[in-house]
Amino acid sequence: MKTNNDIIVAPSLLSADFANLQKDVEMINNSQADWLHLDIMDGVFVPNISFGMPVVGAVHKICTKVLDVHLMIVEPDKFIDEFCKLGADVLTVHYEACPHLHRTIQRIKALGMKAGVALNPHTSVSLLEEVVNDIDVVMLMSVNPGFGGQKFIENALDKVSRAKELILKRNSSAIVEVDGGVNLSTGKQLVEAGADALVAGSFVFGSPNPVDTIQDLKKL
Ligand code: DX5
Ligand code: ZN
Repeated sequence: MKTNNDIIVAPSLLSADFANLQKDVEMINNSQADWLHLDIMDGVFVPNISFGMPVVGAVHKICTKVLDVHLMIVEPDKFIDEFCKLGADVLTVHYEACPHLHRTIQRIKALGMKAGVALNPHTSVSLLEEVVNDIDVVMLMSVNPGFGGQKFIENALDKVSRAKELILKRNSSAIVEVDGGVNLSTGKQLVEAGADALVAGSFVFGSPNPVDTIQDLKKL
Protein backbone atom coordinates (compact mmCIF):
# COMPACT_ATOMS: atom_id res chain seq x y z
CA MET A 1 0.00 0.00 0.00
CA LYS A 2 2.98 2.31 0.36
CA THR A 3 3.92 4.24 -2.74
CA ASN A 4 7.40 5.14 -1.53
CA ASN A 5 9.57 4.73 1.52
CA ASP A 6 7.86 7.58 3.32
CA ILE A 7 6.03 6.88 6.49
CA ILE A 8 2.25 7.13 6.17
CA VAL A 9 0.98 9.82 8.53
CA ALA A 10 -2.64 9.56 9.70
CA PRO A 11 -3.79 12.41 11.95
CA SER A 12 -6.67 11.33 14.17
CA LEU A 13 -9.78 13.49 14.01
CA LEU A 14 -10.60 12.56 17.61
CA SER A 15 -8.39 15.43 18.78
CA ALA A 16 -9.78 17.98 16.30
CA ASP A 17 -12.05 20.89 17.24
CA PHE A 18 -15.54 19.41 16.77
CA ALA A 19 -17.07 22.89 16.62
CA ASN A 20 -14.83 23.64 13.62
CA LEU A 21 -14.46 20.30 11.87
CA GLN A 22 -14.44 21.80 8.38
CA LYS A 23 -11.51 24.03 9.27
CA ASP A 24 -9.53 21.10 10.68
CA VAL A 25 -10.31 18.82 7.72
CA GLU A 26 -9.20 21.59 5.33
CA MET A 27 -5.98 21.89 7.33
CA ILE A 28 -5.44 18.13 6.83
CA ASN A 29 -6.23 18.49 3.10
CA ASN A 30 -3.54 21.17 2.83
CA SER A 31 -0.96 19.18 4.80
CA GLN A 32 1.32 16.28 3.91
CA ALA A 33 -0.93 13.85 5.78
CA ASP A 34 -1.60 10.68 3.80
CA TRP A 35 -4.64 9.40 5.63
CA LEU A 36 -7.26 10.86 7.96
CA HIS A 37 -7.91 8.52 10.89
CA LEU A 38 -11.51 8.31 12.16
CA ASP A 39 -12.12 6.66 15.55
CA ILE A 40 -15.56 5.11 15.99
CA MET A 41 -16.31 4.15 19.62
CA ASP A 42 -19.51 2.54 20.90
CA GLY A 43 -19.25 2.81 24.68
CA VAL A 44 -19.27 -1.01 24.87
CA PHE A 45 -16.07 -2.29 23.28
CA VAL A 46 -14.33 0.76 24.73
CA PRO A 47 -15.37 2.93 27.71
CA ASN A 48 -16.09 5.98 25.59
CA ILE A 49 -18.34 7.17 22.75
CA SER A 50 -16.88 9.29 19.95
CA PHE A 51 -18.82 10.12 16.79
CA GLY A 52 -20.80 8.09 14.29
CA MET A 53 -22.03 7.74 10.73
CA PRO A 54 -23.27 11.29 9.98
CA VAL A 55 -19.87 12.70 10.91
CA VAL A 56 -18.01 10.16 8.75
CA GLY A 57 -20.27 10.97 5.79
CA ALA A 58 -19.84 14.71 6.24
CA VAL A 59 -16.06 14.43 6.55
CA HIS A 60 -15.92 12.23 3.44
CA LYS A 61 -17.58 15.00 1.42
CA ILE A 62 -14.82 17.49 2.18
CA CYS A 63 -11.73 15.36 2.81
CA THR A 64 -9.26 14.68 -0.01
CA LYS A 65 -7.21 12.13 1.94
CA VAL A 66 -7.61 8.38 2.38
CA LEU A 67 -10.23 7.74 5.07
CA ASP A 68 -8.83 5.32 7.64
CA VAL A 69 -11.76 4.19 9.78
CA HIS A 70 -10.94 2.48 13.08
CA LEU A 71 -13.94 0.62 14.49
CA MET A 72 -13.74 0.25 18.27
CA ILE A 73 -17.15 -1.40 18.43
CA VAL A 74 -18.66 -4.79 19.18
CA GLU A 75 -20.27 -6.68 16.29
CA PRO A 76 -18.59 -4.59 13.58
CA ASP A 77 -20.02 -6.92 10.88
CA LYS A 78 -23.38 -5.15 11.26
CA PHE A 79 -21.91 -1.90 9.96
CA ILE A 80 -19.31 -2.86 7.33
CA ASP A 81 -21.57 -2.11 4.36
CA GLU A 82 -22.67 1.20 5.84
CA PHE A 83 -19.10 2.43 6.44
CA CYS A 84 -18.26 1.52 2.86
CA LYS A 85 -21.17 3.63 1.60
CA LEU A 86 -20.03 6.47 3.84
CA GLY A 87 -16.64 6.56 2.13
CA ALA A 88 -14.22 4.47 4.22
CA ASP A 89 -11.13 3.49 2.22
CA VAL A 90 -9.45 1.46 4.96
CA LEU A 91 -11.71 -0.28 7.48
CA THR A 92 -10.08 -1.67 10.61
CA VAL A 93 -11.82 -3.96 13.08
CA HIS A 94 -10.52 -5.24 16.40
CA TYR A 95 -9.33 -8.83 16.71
CA GLU A 96 -10.97 -8.89 20.15
CA ALA A 97 -14.39 -7.96 18.72
CA CYS A 98 -14.54 -10.52 15.90
CA PRO A 99 -15.35 -14.19 16.59
CA HIS A 100 -15.40 -14.84 12.83
CA LEU A 101 -12.52 -12.61 11.86
CA HIS A 102 -11.84 -14.30 8.52
CA ARG A 103 -15.44 -13.74 7.40
CA THR A 104 -15.30 -10.11 8.56
CA ILE A 105 -12.10 -9.48 6.60
CA GLN A 106 -13.52 -11.09 3.46
CA ARG A 107 -16.62 -8.88 3.61
CA ILE A 108 -14.54 -5.71 3.96
CA LYS A 109 -12.44 -6.69 0.95
CA ALA A 110 -15.39 -7.82 -1.15
CA LEU A 111 -16.74 -4.28 -0.89
CA GLY A 112 -13.46 -2.89 -2.25
CA MET A 113 -12.04 -1.49 0.97
CA LYS A 114 -8.64 -2.24 2.46
CA ALA A 115 -8.97 -4.45 5.53
CA GLY A 116 -7.18 -3.78 8.80
CA VAL A 117 -7.08 -5.72 12.04
CA ALA A 118 -6.24 -3.92 15.28
CA LEU A 119 -4.69 -5.58 18.32
CA ASN A 120 -5.15 -4.28 21.85
CA PRO A 121 -1.96 -3.94 23.89
CA HIS A 122 -2.45 -7.36 25.55
CA THR A 123 -3.20 -9.24 22.31
CA SER A 124 -0.32 -11.21 20.81
CA VAL A 125 0.79 -10.57 17.24
CA SER A 126 1.04 -14.35 16.75
CA LEU A 127 -2.78 -14.54 16.74
CA LEU A 128 -2.72 -12.96 13.27
CA GLU A 129 -0.69 -15.81 11.80
CA GLU A 130 -3.63 -17.39 9.94
CA VAL A 131 -5.04 -14.15 8.50
CA VAL A 132 -1.96 -12.04 7.84
CA ASN A 133 -2.10 -12.89 4.13
CA ASP A 134 -5.71 -11.75 3.92
CA ILE A 135 -5.25 -8.29 5.38
CA ASP A 136 -3.82 -4.97 4.24
CA VAL A 137 -3.10 -3.40 7.63
CA VAL A 138 -1.92 -4.77 10.96
CA MET A 139 -2.82 -2.06 13.46
CA LEU A 140 -1.02 -2.21 16.78
CA MET A 141 -2.57 -0.25 19.63
CA SER A 142 0.12 1.47 21.66
CA VAL A 143 -2.48 2.65 24.21
CA ASN A 144 -5.63 0.97 25.50
CA PRO A 145 -8.22 2.18 23.01
CA GLY A 146 -10.90 4.64 24.04
CA PHE A 147 -9.21 7.98 24.55
CA GLY A 148 -6.77 10.35 22.90
CA GLY A 149 -3.82 11.80 24.75
CA GLN A 150 -2.71 8.69 26.63
CA LYS A 151 0.84 7.59 27.38
CA PHE A 152 2.61 5.38 24.85
CA ILE A 153 3.01 1.72 25.95
CA GLU A 154 6.65 0.82 25.23
CA ASN A 155 5.91 -2.86 24.53
CA ALA A 156 4.41 -1.73 21.22
CA LEU A 157 7.96 -1.35 19.88
CA ASP A 158 8.67 -5.08 20.25
CA LYS A 159 5.27 -5.85 18.78
CA VAL A 160 6.12 -3.84 15.66
CA SER A 161 9.23 -6.00 15.18
CA ARG A 162 7.24 -9.18 15.75
CA ALA A 163 4.54 -8.04 13.30
CA LYS A 164 7.15 -7.28 10.64
CA GLU A 165 8.73 -10.71 11.19
CA LEU A 166 5.37 -12.41 10.79
CA ILE A 167 4.58 -10.41 7.63
CA LEU A 168 7.97 -11.32 6.16
CA LYS A 169 7.72 -14.98 7.15
CA ARG A 170 4.31 -15.31 5.52
CA ASN A 171 5.24 -13.16 2.53
CA SER A 172 2.27 -10.87 3.26
CA SER A 173 1.90 -7.40 1.77
CA ALA A 174 0.31 -5.98 4.95
CA ILE A 175 1.67 -2.79 6.44
CA VAL A 176 2.08 -2.05 10.14
CA GLU A 177 0.18 0.93 11.53
CA VAL A 178 0.59 2.08 15.13
CA ASP A 179 -2.08 3.99 17.04
CA GLY A 180 -1.74 5.82 20.35
CA GLY A 181 0.73 8.10 22.10
CA VAL A 182 2.65 8.89 18.91
CA ASN A 183 4.91 11.95 18.98
CA LEU A 184 8.29 12.69 17.38
CA SER A 185 10.17 10.65 19.96
CA THR A 186 7.94 7.54 20.06
CA GLY A 187 7.35 7.93 16.31
CA LYS A 188 11.09 7.76 15.60
CA GLN A 189 11.45 4.59 17.66
CA LEU A 190 8.43 3.06 15.91
CA VAL A 191 9.82 3.82 12.46
CA GLU A 192 13.16 2.30 13.49
CA ALA A 193 11.29 -0.80 14.65
CA GLY A 194 9.64 -1.05 11.21
CA ALA A 195 6.31 0.79 11.46
CA ASP A 196 4.88 1.90 8.11
CA ALA A 197 2.03 4.13 9.27
CA LEU A 198 1.63 6.35 12.34
CA VAL A 199 -1.65 7.64 13.77
CA ALA A 200 -1.28 10.85 15.78
CA GLY A 201 -4.13 12.72 17.43
CA SER A 202 -3.25 14.99 20.34
CA PHE A 203 0.32 15.48 19.13
CA VAL A 204 -0.88 16.93 15.82
CA PHE A 205 -3.98 18.86 16.88
CA GLY A 206 -2.47 20.04 20.17
CA SER A 207 0.60 21.49 18.49
CA PRO A 208 0.93 25.21 17.67
CA ASN A 209 1.30 24.44 13.96
CA PRO A 210 -0.34 21.12 12.98
CA VAL A 211 0.76 21.36 9.32
CA ASP A 212 4.41 21.62 10.41
CA THR A 213 3.95 18.83 12.95
CA ILE A 214 2.57 16.54 10.22
CA GLN A 215 5.58 17.41 8.09
CA ASP A 216 7.92 16.58 10.99
CA LEU A 217 6.26 13.16 11.34
CA LYS A 218 6.59 12.57 7.59
CA LYS A 219 10.33 13.15 7.82
CA LEU A 220 10.87 10.48 10.49
C1 DX5 B 1 -7.48 5.74 20.77
C2 DX5 B 1 -7.68 6.03 19.33
C3 DX5 B 1 -6.58 6.82 18.72
C4 DX5 B 1 -6.44 8.21 19.29
C5 DX5 B 1 -4.97 8.50 19.32
O1 DX5 B 1 -8.47 4.88 21.19
O2 DX5 B 1 -7.79 4.84 18.59
O3 DX5 B 1 -6.67 6.87 17.32
O4 DX5 B 1 -7.10 9.19 18.53
O5 DX5 B 1 -4.78 9.66 20.05
P1 DX5 B 1 -3.34 10.11 20.53
O6 DX5 B 1 -2.47 10.25 19.32
O7 DX5 B 1 -3.60 11.41 21.23
O8 DX5 B 1 -2.82 9.04 21.47
ZN1 ZN C 1 -7.61 4.98 16.37
